[in-house]
Amino acid sequence: MTTSAEQRAVHLLVLTGAGISADSGVRTFRDHGGLWEGQRPEDVATPQAWRRDRRLVWRFYQQRRAQLGEVSPNPAHAALADLERQAKLAGGAFTLVTQNVDDLHERAGSQPIHMHGELAWLRCERCERRVRDLEHLSPDEFVPCPACGHDALRPDIVWFGEPLDPHVLGAAFEAADACDALICVGSSLEVEPAASIPFRSIRRGAVVIEINPAPTSLTEHADAGIRGNAAEVLPVLFREVWG
Ligand code: OAD
Repeated sequence: MTTSAEQRAVHLLVLTGAGISADSGVRTFRDHGGLWEGQRPEDVATPQAWRRDRRLVWRFYQQRRAQLGEVSPNPAHAALADLERQAKLAGGAFTLVTQNVDDLHERAGSQPIHMHGELAWLRCERCERRVRDLEHLSPDEFVPCPACGHDALRPDIVWFGEPLDPHVLGAAFEAADACDALICVGSSLEVEPAASIPFRSIRRGAVVIEINPAPTSLTEHADAGIRGNAAEVLPVLFREVWG
């Protein structure tokens, strides 16, 4: 037997990708040819590239770090923060997992699990000190480590070929296995292990909804899909369904 409060205690998981920030003016990785100065981001975002041409990689990330000061959360980020408040008020659980490295979810009031790291943080490869820094944004100057003096901190981003933080991955998978419903917003689902999250939830019997203007590998497996931009769809959806 369950009380009515327990019956309402559903666990909602939202997985976001670059598409949720597209309406804020942050470019996605794979749309529009996905090139940066003629290079594929996948070729810049690797430990090999950092070793081969640190200046190129640093310039790429410094542009992205500087852009954080020029963009703002859009109605999709705000709608998710509202949804979290409502879900928790109703006694439910809510987890937001993002593949994004921007800080727009936080600025809208959410506390996401960042699977791929965060632009706002830098990390020392020598002593592992992590530093929150959005002050040093010059494309040409490296930031030395304040702890050990190493000459150049690196972006605290999970690059292609690097493992995810096991605690972060564990938390994301735990939510994928426990949730009753998952909403996947603005991800091409082309990068593992994030791409496996909705499929884990489907295997556990969760209801899965996808919001994306383009089809993905999830589309035919989802219980419902809405083709559209996150900033237009999410506020209306939540008002209609939960509002
Ligand atoms: P992608 O650039 O691969 O995919 C963006 C998705 O957003 C596509 O499926 C688009 O159709 C969709 N989209 C575009 N505009 C949208 C909008 N206005 N509203 C909703 N959806 C929209 O980005 P991710 O799937 O997030 O890794 O990429 C995954 C990872 O690959 C990233 O986290 C990044 C990248 O390399 C790292 O930085 C380590």
